Amino acid sequence: MRAVTERRELSSIAYGFIASKALFAALGVDLFTHLAAGPRTTAELSEATGIAAHRLETLLHALSSIGVIVAEGQSFTNAPASQRYLVRGAPSDFGEYFRLQVAQQIYPALVHLDAGLAGTGVAFDTFADLLSRPEEARTFTAAQHAGSRAAARVLAERTPLGGARTMLDVGGGSGAFSIALCARNPRLTATVLDFPAVLDVARTYRDEAGLSARIDLLPGDAVQTPWPSDQDVVLLSYLLSALGDAEIDVVLARAQTSLAPGGLLIVHDFMLDDAAPGPEFAALWFLQYLAYRSDGVSFSADALSGRLRDHGFVPAPSEVLIPETTKTILSSKAST
Ligand SMILES: C[S@@+](CC[C@H](N)C(=O)[O-])C[C@H]1O[C@@H](n2cnc3c(N)ncnc32)[C@H](O)[C@@H]1O
Repeated sequence: MRAVTERRELSSIAYGFIASKALFAALGVDLFTHLAAGPRTTAELSEATGIAAHRLETLLHALSSIGVIVAEGQSFTNAPASQRYLVRGAPSDFGEYFRLQVAQQIYPALVHLDAGLAGTGVAFDTFADLLSRPEEARTFTAAQHAGSRAAARVLAERTPLGGARTMLDVGGGSGAFSIALCARNPRLTATVLDFPAVLDVARTYRDEAGLSARIDLLPGDAVQTPWPSDQDVVLLSYLLSALGDAEIDVVLARAQTSLAPGGLLIVHDFMLDDAAPGPEFAALWFLQYLAYRSDGVSFSADALSGRLRDHGFVPAPSEVLIPETTKTILSSKAST
């Protein structure tokens, strides 16, 4: 278990928010994309980004100090992970996830964490309110698509769906998981249930993937809108962590009712380790939700499996999907 021993380690945590902001500022001016083709001087980067050289130099020094770019003589180049993950259009690019959702929505919302912890106020009343604003829904959903695409492909590759024909993807967002699972399972059709403004964004991704005929969009609120019945698969990806404690039970009960006999529930979400309060990224993701809602809870795979059993599911052991961050639990509907 982690225990800091040095003052330096405390400083690194305390100043971490400045490092985050340096990364977001660099993403905001496409710095990593400007460095994709090789080393550039401050003057060249100033020209490319439109930031005055003396100010840009301060940012470049900060970025070099945290290791996301590398100084080479008078030039700067991308660090290997920045080149791989933060260059626009690169196969593993997920810079949009950081630039849009993390930098523009989560970072400012965290100012409300103290009030969220005290139970006296939150960044916004409900997800439905936030995502009813088309601009916020676009920012959130485009970012989520960038963040979920790779994980969705991994899940699709390692989860045989047999002869499944119907899947309900609740809180399906951009449809990244439905797209990957339909692409992998030619007989599968999916329904994505999410707020209307989110689905306006999902529509574009679905149509671009050539899956308009196989993925339906169902606008509504997962806790109130009726779910279709007789589903072979129900998918809850990053939904339970976004809900309040009581809503989790509502959604699990609805999943049980919506599934056909022998149906499969797939939960993919942040999950704490069973024995200790890590891993770091999962624990931090749960914490940031308290800036949005005072009824949010964190859970381990063990705790969630218990809750699934209470709702009549038979959960298999959890599996890591995104290391140190998310896990999946596949559950069959108990025969009654
Ligand atoms: C973190 S995103 C995950 C999106 C998608 N499942 C994925 O894994 O990429 C959470 C999604 O849940 C949706 N959501 C949250 N609460 C909801 C509710 N009560 N009803 C419907 N959708 C909801 C949000 O709009 C958002 O699209």
